Amino acid sequence: MKITTVANQKGGVGKTTLEIHLAACAAEDGKRVLVVDLDEGDLSQFFPPAEDDDETPYLMSSQLFNGEHEGRQPRQVGPNTWLIEADVALLDVDDMDLDVIHALRPALGRFANDFDLCMIDTPPNLQRRMVAALTASHAVVAPFNISAFTLARLPKLMNTIETVQDKYNPGLRFLGYLPNLVNSRSPEEIDALPSLRESYGDAMFAEQIIYRPCINKSLAAGNPVWWKARSGSQREAGKEMKRACKAVLAKVWAE
Ligand SMILES: Nc1ncnc2c1ncn2[C@@H]1O[C@H](COP(=O)(O)OP(=O)(O)OP(=O)(O)O)[C@@H](O)[C@H]1O
Ligand SMILES: [Mg+2]
Repeated sequence: MKITTVANQKGGVGKTTLEIHLAACAAEDGKRVLVVDLDEGDLSQFFPPAEDDDETPYLMSSQLFNGEHEGRQPRQVGPNTWLIEADVALLDVDDMDLDVIHALRPALGRFANDFDLCMIDTPPNLQRRMVAALTASHAVVAPFNISAFTLARLPKLMNTIETVQDKYNPGLRFLGYLPNLVNSRSPEEIDALPSLRESYGDAMFAEQIIYRPCINKSLAAGNPVWWKARSGSQREAGKEMKRACKAVLAKVWAE
C-alpha cells in the first residue's frame, strides 16, 4: 500500500479537491483506495454518510493516534473506496506529545495488504496531524494557486518536507507542486507558469488545473468533475483533472 499525503501550509489551495479526484481516479483504475481525513471533515462530508441503521463502530481518524484502532475497520463509501472519517477528537491530536507523530504509520500499517493506495488529506497548518501524515507517507504532492501569498509559503512547505525527511522519514518522496485554481483570464497567472516551471524544474508538474466553477458544483453533488458532464467547460475540466491525477498517480506508482 502506497501512502500519499496531499499537503500545503496554505489553506484553500485545493488539497481536498485534489485528494478526492486522486482517490476517484485510482479507484476507477481498479485500485483499492483508503482515504484518510486528518482535516476538519471537508473530505469526509464529500462521501455519503453511513446508513441510519448502520451501527458498526467504524474506525475514526483520532483512533489512529490514540491506540484505539484495533478491531475497527474503515467504512466503504464507494466502489473500491473506503474512508477513515474525521471526528471531533481528532483536534486533540495537535495538543498531544510530539511522539504522537509516529503513531500513524504503524496504525495504517495494519491495512498494508488490504489496499493499494492510502490517500491522506491534511490541515493547512504545521501541527502534529500534518507532521504525522508526512512521517507516515511514502510520497507527498502539493497543489498551490498562483497568488503572492501562496508562492511565499512554498519554501516553507519544502522546508517542512526536508525536516521530516531528515528527522523522521528518509523515505518520503516529494512528487511535486501542482498548479490549481489557475485563472485562465489572467495574463499574469498564465505568464507566470513557464517561469515557475523553469525555476522549480521537476518539482513542478507540467499539468495544471484551471479555475472552473463546475469543479465546485460537482463536489457539492458528491461527484468527481469528470462524472456526468453537463457542459463543454465541465468536459474540459474533467479531462484536465484526469490528466493531472494520472500524472500524480504515475509518480506514486513509480517507486
Ligand atoms: N480548480 C478549481 N476550480 C474551481 N474551484 C476549485 C478548484 N479547486 C478547488 N476549488 C474550490 O475551492 C475551494 C477550496 O478548495 P479545497 O477545499 O480543496 O482547498 P483546501 O486546500 O483543501 O482548503 P483547506 O486548507 O481549507 O482544507 C473549494 O470550494 C473547492 O471546491
Ligand atoms: Mg481541505
